[in-house]
Amino acid sequence: MSDQQNSQLADYISRQIDEQNGIDFATFMGLCLYHPDQGYYMKDRVRIGKQGDFFTSSSVHALFGSLISAQIRQMWELMGQGVFTVVEQGAGDGHLAADILDCLRDEAAELYENLSYRIVEISPDNRRRQAERLISHLERVTWCAEEELAPFTGCFLSNELIDAMPIHVVERRNGGFQELFVVKTEDGSFGEELRPDCGMLQDYFDWLGQAPCEGNRGEANLAAIDWMKKVAAKLEKGFVLTIDYGYPAEELYAPFRRNGTVMCYHKHSSNEDPYRLVGEQDITAHVDFTALQKAGAEVGLQPLYFGEQYQFLMALGFLERLMQLQASTSDQREAAALRMTLKNLIMPDQGMGSMFKMLVQGKGVGSPELLCQRKIADIPIPGI
Ligand SMILES: C[S@@+](CC[C@H](N)C(=O)[O-])C[C@H]1O[C@@H](n2cnc3c(N)ncnc32)[C@H](O)[C@@H]1O
Repeated sequence: MSDQQNSQLADYISRQIDEQNGIDFATFMGLCLYHPDQGYYMKDRVRIGKQGDFFTSSSVHALFGSLISAQIRQMWELMGQGVFTVVEQGAGDGHLAADILDCLRDEAAELYENLSYRIVEISPDNRRRQAERLISHLERVTWCAEEELAPFTGCFLSNELIDAMPIHVVERRNGGFQELFVVKTEDGSFGEELRPDCGMLQDYFDWLGQAPCEGNRGEANLAAIDWMKKVAAKLEKGFVLTIDYGYPAEELYAPFRRNGTVMCYHKHSSNEDPYRLVGEQDITAHVDFTALQKAGAEVGLQPLYFGEQYQFLMALGFLERLMQLQASTSDQREAAALRMTLKNLIMPDQGMGSMFKMLVQGKGVGSPELLCQRKIADIPIPGI
């Protein structure tokens, strides 16, 4: 894995900037991550896990997927236990899909038999990794492009998809908005230029009812709004479960967040400079969960649950599963290592427990009492 930028990609982007007299940040990020041959997600490389650039919850431990499978199982029951489709978009190395499918096969045979698991994945490299990991479930799994996805009944699932969508970067100046463009500096490297908004960002923030404060930088994920509408159009009946790091708009655009949330990841270190290591680092931005809920509500997706990952996982039986796993080893060091690993998923400050949020929306399913809404006091703890 290189510590230098991908010069072929950097040259391509450089030519685009010359030809178009600068490109907006969303175009720049889209090219860095998804250029068809050279983009970070499109090339053969290890991205997720110890040898890669970042961990995701599903790569931390199979327990994450097993808890999600409990929620999916209840969704299936709520919908009458018939044929059920799970669509997962942006499945990475396939950890989440594998853990859900393993668990359903072992614990919910009837659902497993009725299940079609469809993966929508943009990266050929990730599709290959997913197919390898899912070798024992190939009867249940199919892949398709976003535009090929047929209308379905079931659950649309994503984990860390939205944070990887190209975002527009904006600064609030004198009450109005300026959009960030990527240009070339005198020495030929990539630089930034603010240009007056053409009206698109003003319209967006008017619609949202929140915006970055005067003098602050922030992001507008317009692609996420289009995505939400497409998801709603494909889902005939069922649920949308979106997992990602982010905040409600009020918190995302809070006065103290002066520089927005763009973050880059390379070999497990983070930086705020998207212009270095072009094509060799992940670029992300925190998700605006208010925008997702608002866009969804406009197209028939009712918000059913929104909460932090630790609450969600606890309600789905985190402690019960942890105790079962611990009971399966008599080695004290192994049990301690397991606890350390799993703590990551729920720790509010240092871990993923609070920064990650879970949003469940529903279409044609009423207002069911979801398993993830269980109160901690109502959760039985084995042996107590
Ligand atoms: C950060 S990874 C998600 C990891 C994975 N969900 C997990 O639990 O480990 C982002 C994933 O989204 C995929 N992706 C990004 N944009 C996409 C799109 N428009 N359609 C399908 N997949 C996309 C990437 O190729 C990658 O697999």
